[in-house]
Amino acid sequence: MDIFRKKDVNDLLNRQSPLKRTLHTWDLTFLGIGAIIGTGIFVLTGKGALTTGPSLALSFLIAAICCGFAGLCYAEFASMAPVAGSAYTYSYISFGEIVAFIIGWDLLLEYALGAATVAAGWSGYFVNLMGNLGIHIPTALTAAAGTTPGVHTFFNLPAFVIVLLITCIIAMGINQTKHVNDTMVIIKLGVIILFIVCTVWFVKTRNWHPFTPYGWYSFHKGTSAGVIPAASIVFFSFIGFDSVSSSAEETVNPSKTLPRGILLSLLISTVLYITMTLIMTGVVKYTVFAKYLDAPILAVLHQTGQTWLSIIVSIGAILGMTTVILVQLYGQSRITYSMSRDGLFPKFFGDVSLQHQTPYKGTWFFGIVTAVTAGFINLNILSELVNIGTLTAFILVSAGVLWMRHKHPEIHRGFKAPGVPFTPIIAIAFCLMLIAGLNWETWLRFVVWFAIGMCIYFGYAKKHSHLNKAN
Ligand code: ALA
Repeated sequence: MDIFRKKDVNDLLNRQSPLKRTLHTWDLTFLGIGAIIGTGIFVLTGKGALTTGPSLALSFLIAAICCGFAGLCYAEFASMAPVAGSAYTYSYISFGEIVAFIIGWDLLLEYALGAATVAAGWSGYFVNLMGNLGIHIPTALTAAAGTTPGVHTFFNLPAFVIVLLITCIIAMGINQTKHVNDTMVIIKLGVIILFIVCTVWFVKTRNWHPFTPYGWYSFHKGTSAGVIPAASIVFFSFIGFDSVSSSAEETVNPSKTLPRGILLSLLISTVLYITMTLIMTGVVKYTVFAKYLDAPILAVLHQTGQTWLSIIVSIGAILGMTTVILVQLYGQSRITYSMSRDGLFPKFFGDVSLQHQTPYKGTWFFGIVTAVTAGFINLNILSELVNIGTLTAFILVSAGVLWMRHKHPEIHRGFKAPGVPFTPIIAIAFCLMLIAGLNWETWLRFVVWFAIGMCIYFGYAKKHSHLNKAN
């Protein structure tokens, strides 16, 4: 059937790319860390702690295990088909066009809406920092309408502006992007380590009791609570490692470099997250975070009396989230570039600038859409929608590894995921568990998003697909 037509992996490998190869292992690791550490740890930990109590670290561990297994599958695919497009391209090879389109559509949710969500979190810390410095931004322009009950807000101006600024950097080219990203990641890591070193002394182990007040999964005040629902929320913290694989066409020796970059960035982030959440719930009783949902880290610093550190940490958080937006918008522009190159999106999105060698038209188009969304977005609703889209993409990538090992064992893989078939099966089981931990409204919104995607596929993409023309 047409909708299951597949790409040949060898055609992909033989094709010349107009993009420049400049990225090495540590560049990718930095790109990964830049994409991973952000709103999840700096903002969503507040909601996560209220959902599960001190066992938040356990929720992070569960989300990390899920991403670790899925990361191994991503790494295998990335080493087999090191071309731009990440999970989208992988599923085009293994399952066929319609599944690839669904994944690409999911990745739009992950990257474009994810970047908008992170920009909303960025704005919270930015407004706080400006307040500390005596600069007042009109309340109506600090958040989307209806974000804070009882406060009249209209539009999130800081979030809108930061997305446009970053779009400009990405449209200028990968070298600028890499240097800006590297500097910010170093500052972000430095600030996190400073936070850990300064606050670990204030941990009171009695705050860790009871460790799991809501068990693994329960209902509390009409909403799901416990370790698993919290893991479904903080899963957002790990999103981003997969965007490393979107830069395959700009990577030197991708079959070795990509898996290393993915796994290293995931490992470093996990160690930092677990340390930070143990400290946060050890210094402050978890219920206190209810008053600090916008900036839970500051609850800890108020408790320890280190107000000098809160300005430094706010700056680190702002830079941290800036790099997340940067890498997400970057990954997003590369996905739409790949989809357009295959005819599934209009040619406009794939036009590469001769001067900067970037797909600048698509970058600007989605940059503007993301900026407007960030202005009007409600962070909590969208972070869960982003989670479900990403988890679905992970499931398809993991299933793709199983399928390709079975169907095409002959294809060269620079990296082979250990423990197949168990590794992808465990990844799929964890993803399903985390999807189950999300609320039904999120499932419903995802179904609507999916239905819109299908209309676009059958209304445009199926007919314009290059594979259709080739046939
Ligand atoms: N993992 C990214 C963050 O936490 C999306 O902001």
